[in-house]
Amino acid sequence: MAAVQILDKIYWVGAVDWNVRYFHGPTYSIRKGTTYNSYLIVDEKVALVDTVFGPFTAELVENIKEVIPLEKIDYVVVNHIESDHSGAFPEIMKLAPQARVLCTQKAMEGLKKHFQGDWDFQVVKTKDTVSLGRRSLTFIEAPMLHWPDSMFTYVEEEALLLPNDAFGQHIATSYRFDDQADINQIMDEAGKYYANILWPFSRLVARKIEEITAMGLKIKMIAPSHGIIWRNDPMRIVNAYSRWAKGEACKKAVIVYDTMWESTGKMANAILQGLVSQGVEARLFKVSVSDTSEIIGELLESKAIVVGSPTINNDMHPVMAPFLTDLVGLKPLNKIGMVFGSYGWKGGAVETVKGRLQEAGIQVVEQQPVAKWVPTKDELQECYHAGQWLASQI
Ligand code: FEO
Repeated sequence: MAAVQILDKIYWVGAVDWNVRYFHGPTYSIRKGTTYNSYLIVDEKVALVDTVFGPFTAELVENIKEVIPLEKIDYVVVNHIESDHSGAFPEIMKLAPQARVLCTQKAMEGLKKHFQGDWDFQVVKTKDTVSLGRRSLTFIEAPMLHWPDSMFTYVEEEALLLPNDAFGQHIATSYRFDDQADINQIMDEAGKYYANILWPFSRLVARKIEEITAMGLKIKMIAPSHGIIWRNDPMRIVNAYSRWAKGEACKKAVIVYDTMWESTGKMANAILQGLVSQGVEARLFKVSVSDTSEIIGELLESKAIVVGSPTINNDMHPVMAPFLTDLVGLKPLNKIGMVFGSYGWKGGAVETVKGRLQEAGIQVVEQQPVAKWVPTKDELQECYHAGQWLASQI
């Protein structure tokens, strides 16, 4: 993709990765690809804000060259050192050796360690400002959103916020702006991104939004480092982040289960019917054929999670483990949980699943439908009633 002017003499010079399907190794699936957004601000001084993933270095260089020779770059701002944004950094610094690097203390330490080199660093803190001439860059440290080094860059004269990962979405698209794309699809991807990456840091997200509000920053455009740029309605994503950071959810439930000979499957369906009978929107995921990241994304705005497993070797089915491990790490906010399952001669699954949900900070209810061997009609009716009861708690 060629350079795109997003504001007067401010350009998107990033890259679109149409083929990537996983992020953070194989944990987070990103079926729609992603973009690595890098921005070039041309003023009396020239600043490049963030770079791209290493394999896309040549695209970044070509895009910058369309606008300005690389030796004209005065500042390289590194909002975040993760490889998808800093991979091209060493090459850019070779081509623009005169550039000063603006970043946090942690980012400086990280860049030196990642790339085993040293450059002309200027460490910045919240409210520090660097003038480019007509415009200026103001920095806002954002530690643990989502790494210790993270920060946002703000261009006051344009009311432009460059928050790196925050407010982003993993979606490869030929569009650059929210008013060009399918906004429902973009919001779904933004939610999935929040749930899979930012959920554990929700309290920090809420605090950062309060801090930015208190600073009185005017925001007309938010240009994150993944996905589309928010220019039509930037507060849409800020408000969504506020809701997600508070753990606000809808009248929805997610049922996640697996089954060996369909006993737990029948129970899952009966619970689903019970929820639905009370007007709760419910979605069923058989974990072995589902995408864990999609389930996590779906859980973001669901009040309840219901998890079922058959017992095998006195424990839950091993296929449940990766999903539950992910959940424990993400610590979803304000969720109600229910567990259920079938067993043969001895139980064990529901206790393990309950423990994992509690480790994830989920409030697990006492109701715990279980069935020996194949659930009877009465046992399925109990599952149905458990679904109805859970609906009353949502
Ligand atoms: Fe934290 Fe987009 O990397």
